Amino acid sequence: MKKFPKDFLWGSATSSYQIEGAATEGGRAWSIWDAHAHIPGRTANNENGDIACDHYHKYKEDVQLMADLGIKSYRFSISWSRIQPDGQGAVNEEGISFYSNLIDELLKHNITPWITLYHWDLPLALHTEKDGWLNPEIADYFQKYAHICFEHFGDRVKNWITLNEGWVVSILGYAEGVFAPGRKSKDEPYLVAHQLLRSHGKAVKLYREKFQEVQKGRIGITNNCDWREPLTNKPEDIEAAQRSIEFFLGWFADPIYLGDYPASMRKSLGDRLPKFTEEDKAIILGSSDFFGLNHYSTLLAEDFQKDEHLTMNVYGNGGISEDQNVKLTTDPSWKKTAMEWPIVPWGLQKLLEWIMNRYDNPPIYITENGCAFNDTMVDGKIEDRERIAYLDSYLSACHKAIANGVNLKGYFLWSLMDNFEWAQGYSKRFGIYYVDYKNLERTPKQSAYWFKEVIANNGFKTFE
Ligand code: GAL
Repeated sequence: MKKFPKDFLWGSATSSYQIEGAATEGGRAWSIWDAHAHIPGRTANNENGDIACDHYHKYKEDVQLMADLGIKSYRFSISWSRIQPDGQGAVNEEGISFYSNLIDELLKHNITPWITLYHWDLPLALHTEKDGWLNPEIADYFQKYAHICFEHFGDRVKNWITLNEGWVVSILGYAEGVFAPGRKSKDEPYLVAHQLLRSHGKAVKLYREKFQEVQKGRIGITNNCDWREPLTNKPEDIEAAQRSIEFFLGWFADPIYLGDYPASMRKSLGDRLPKFTEEDKAIILGSSDFFGLNHYSTLLAEDFQKDEHLTMNVYGNGGISEDQNVKLTTDPSWKKTAMEWPIVPWGLQKLLEWIMNRYDNPPIYITENGCAFNDTMVDGKIEDRERIAYLDSYLSACHKAIANGVNLKGYFLWSLMDNFEWAQGYSKRFGIYYVDYKNLERTPKQSAYWFKEVIANNGFKTFE
């Protein structure tokens, strides 16, 4: 039996736009994701989050699903435009009530709420009228929105995550344009990331100065990163892999833990990378009480100097790879999930150890890990053995990392239930509960029963 530390925290995660539905009910206004998903051709089968899992109406049932599994912590996000339809100004009381009721329902079942303030659904008005994340004023809007949330929920919520995956917001939203707001630029991602970090810093400053002492909670940020394994042992490939991680995770974590962007980014980008003022630096440095990490996969990295080749061959979540001089590939022997993401559990172990070494062993929470497979229901059952194997192998990697000294404190499985998987619509299923989108019925997959045992035993007998 692989046992986890006594206080290890087991949870599951979702996000507002992916599960809530009720897109225009209860006083909610559209976010950039509502708009994006309603443009034909932007999502698989032109699907959108209008109804999603209808969690807005079914939240009590969903809390019961968690209670049935013995889940101890639940990470969800707040839809900003449900709280402030225009992203600024008036507060929508119905939105406050919805989250307030959800929090009470969780606490009634002894489930600890972990709130993400921003999981990609920016109020549309802030984008169309105010240039969204490109506008330096966004940090003030975000701080005010955060204030409303701390004020209304902070008496009961002790775990706050400001932003989910700034890398995705910047790269998929502003470079590749495959996620909202669908922009394609080589420079905007760096400007957007800068404003995300400033916004995070300001929300944390507010929490610490005005709320933390009384409410006694903690606040941090969640970043995502895949692992990058050097293709060969050549020093230039080892450096390329390191550079690639710095452009991915270091971009967002270095300013928080080390006080500025990685030197490799400054060297390559020069003035295309914004500079922090001394005031920004002071606010951002040390602004996370824990290290929130989302991790799914691994790719191989090799050095690839732009003047050697005319075109770049980009594979996977590369970022703007010509800025990095890195080429990414996969190993053909690696199995993949339905997202085509290679399954490489040791990549998670290496990444956790990389974080331990670079950032002086911070407390880490894996705020997302999981996988999509083409689950099918047969005789009312979903035998998702591949998901169990994935979770077993990734949790084994966590176990090894802990044995090597990594201060890993918790694990949130993505996701509680199948949901709106962004550009992939409903075609990719990440849940441990299966959702039948015809009638919105939830059915536990085999992996749900497996996870229940893991939580009950605080560990598991591995397949390995
Ligand atoms: C993360 C994201 C989640 C979920 C997951 C699976 O990047 O935070 O919302 O979609 O990926 O793709």
